[in-house]
Amino acid sequence: MSELSVEAKGLTKYFGGFRAVDHVSLAVPAGSIYGVLGPNGAGKTTSLRMMLGIIDPDEGESRLLGGQRPRAVRHRIGYLPEERGLYPGMKAREAIAFMGALRGLDWAEGRRRAADFMAELGLERVIDGKIRKMSKGMAQMVQLIGSIVHAPDLIVLDEPFSGLDPVNQERLETLVRRERDRGATILFSTHVMAHAERLCDRLAIIARGRRRFEGTVDEARALLPMQVRYTPRIDAGTGTDTHAIAALLPPGAERRGGDWHFPIADEEVEPLLARITTSGLGVAGLSITRPALHDAFVHIVRQADAGFSADAAADAIGEAAA
Ligand SMILES: Nc1ncnc2c1ncn2[C@@H]1O[C@H](COP(=O)(O)OP(=O)(O)OP(=O)(O)O)[C@@H](O)[C@H]1O
Ligand SMILES: [Mg+2]
Repeated sequence: MSELSVEAKGLTKYFGGFRAVDHVSLAVPAGSIYGVLGPNGAGKTTSLRMMLGIIDPDEGESRLLGGQRPRAVRHRIGYLPEERGLYPGMKAREAIAFMGALRGLDWAEGRRRAADFMAELGLERVIDGKIRKMSKGMAQMVQLIGSIVHAPDLIVLDEPFSGLDPVNQERLETLVRRERDRGATILFSTHVMAHAERLCDRLAIIARGRRRFEGTVDEARALLPMQVRYTPRIDAGTGTDTHAIAALLPPGAERRGGDWHFPIADEEVEPLLARITTSGLGVAGLSITRPALHDAFVHIVRQADAGFSADAAADAIGEAAA
């Protein structure tokens, strides 16, 4: 088995009586890009903080970089926290070198690398600009560089894309891939599916404090059936034709104008195509598409919400009966 950069087991955190994170386990393979997805308040930030040893779990434990305690390897970790903040009076170059120095990087080397990173990210104009004069997105890019300037083996980024314009989002994606190619492991949280879909080797979906899914993007998308849109060639306006078409398609197929929409299991695709071909109804249009990660995400989060409501209802009934 390949080495794990993060191995979290059963992480649990209570805030007062509220269980914000409930037995979350995560195994992040070394050298991968791993996404933690979930709606607002799901427990992503709290989970990441426990994994990094920034806060202590009430239950469970976390090992990093091949089995070590989080605090023993802090110089090999880069972390962009959810709450952004740099010293406003510092210049970008110094701020980056300073963050590197906190993780053991030589000051002069930090300044050199700061210049390279800033140039690569199109920020060379502001390298000697003060943080206080920068836009929010620019300052965030500087903080991001500062969190990886010491070339960490494990990079943890909490919502790194939020607040960045599309050009900077793309630069950040390129940077993440390049850090992975250098050999680092990247663990990041997001609720923007497009980034996760493009970047993640694997991902976990957390909702209401629990891990609801773990796997690849393709595995997540395969949780839902493919969607078919079929347009028969004949005039579908008459009643008999509509019946003939409906008889050909799975129950529940929905007609919208001249199109028919329905979900289909993988193994039903070929039989359906055969039925359409022999029916004489013809094909004016046909598309069979996998749901996007977005659809899988919404499905999983709704299921978690429904489960929560069911639990709450059961509690309420229990209380009423008592
Ligand atoms: N220090 C705290 N004290 C009390 N409750 C907290 C604290 N930190 C987080 N929570 C609660 O724990 C839950 C999980 O919060 P967390 O910040 O981990 O969510 P998240 O998935 O990162 O959300 P977001 O997408 O909004 O960043 C939320 O209900 C939040 O209100
Ligand atoms: Mg968060």
